[in-house]
Amino acid sequence: AVLLLIVVLGVALGVALKRNSEPFKKTFIDRYSAELSMIFQIHCGKIWTAFEQAYVRKDPCKVPMEAYDPLMAAAPFKPACNRMMFWSKTKEVVHDFTAKKDCFLTLEDTLLGSVLDGLTWCGKEGSSDTFTAGCPGWTDCDNNTVRSFWNRVSAAFADAACGDATVMLNGSLATPFSPYSIFGSIEVKNFNSQRMKSLNVVLITQEKNVSNCSNASFKDLQKELDGGIKYNCKEVSEAQLQWCSSSPETPCGSCW
Ligand code: APR
Repeated sequence: AVLLLIVVLGVALGVALKRNSEPFKKTFIDRYSAELSMIFQIHCGKIWTAFEQAYVRKDPCKVPMEAYDPLMAAAPFKPACNRMMFWSKTKEVVHDFTAKKDCFLTLEDTLLGSVLDGLTWCGKEGSSDTFTAGCPGWTDCDNNTVRSFWNRVSAAFADAACGDATVMLNGSLATPFSPYSIFGSIEVKNFNSQRMKSLNVVLITQEKNVSNCSNASFKDLQKELDGGIKYNCKEVSEAQLQWCSSSPETPCGSCW
């Protein structure tokens, strides 16, 4: 009977202690999340200020890419060695792939890139507001607010590339590597051989592919690459890529 009493008392005490720890858990979580939300708001405010200083009160055609330097200093890219994915004229296919398979990271998968992907914004002389209508289009002027942003973040993203990097190019084009694209004019020039070991071209082909890895434009790409960076090219059909991204058991390294 004494033993039974001890067991019953022990169980009762255990239940009581557990009950008592519930309000403590709530206090812990409430205080922790209040702290986090405060830190988050301060951080977001700083990033927003660094972002808007690039273009507010300015002619939206006179925003050079350097205007976003303070933003890049406030929100630098964390290098994702061996996982960085670049692209040119393959936006849909590459993002479809990275969304389904968690092997690679594109600029648009980063925090800053995903926040601004698809948006239009600009300032106006004499106003402290941000506008989303009446802004210059991508090709209306070279130094427009949106284009300079993508140029600047692309330079920073490429500068952070380390280990083996990948680029998906479009095999349905006669010139899959264009020196005028962001990839050709900015990213390739910012790759750093101190950090980056190789660039692996994945040329996405369709049934009637126009180019292959011996395309002349890849000679230009290799010439542009910093000497210490190795170059590889592989042709991969769009069907193979889609098959791979929809088969969860296939490891990333076996997609091509
Ligand atoms: N009008 C509007 N947007 C444009 C235009 C245009 N004329 N040209 C380019 N863009 C924007 C679009 O958002 C488009 O999807 O740039 C994107 C990429 O253009 P592409 O010519 O397909 O490729 P590229 O210029 O090489 O840029 C892609 O830069 O964003 C980085 O890291 C990313 O490696 C990627 C590369």
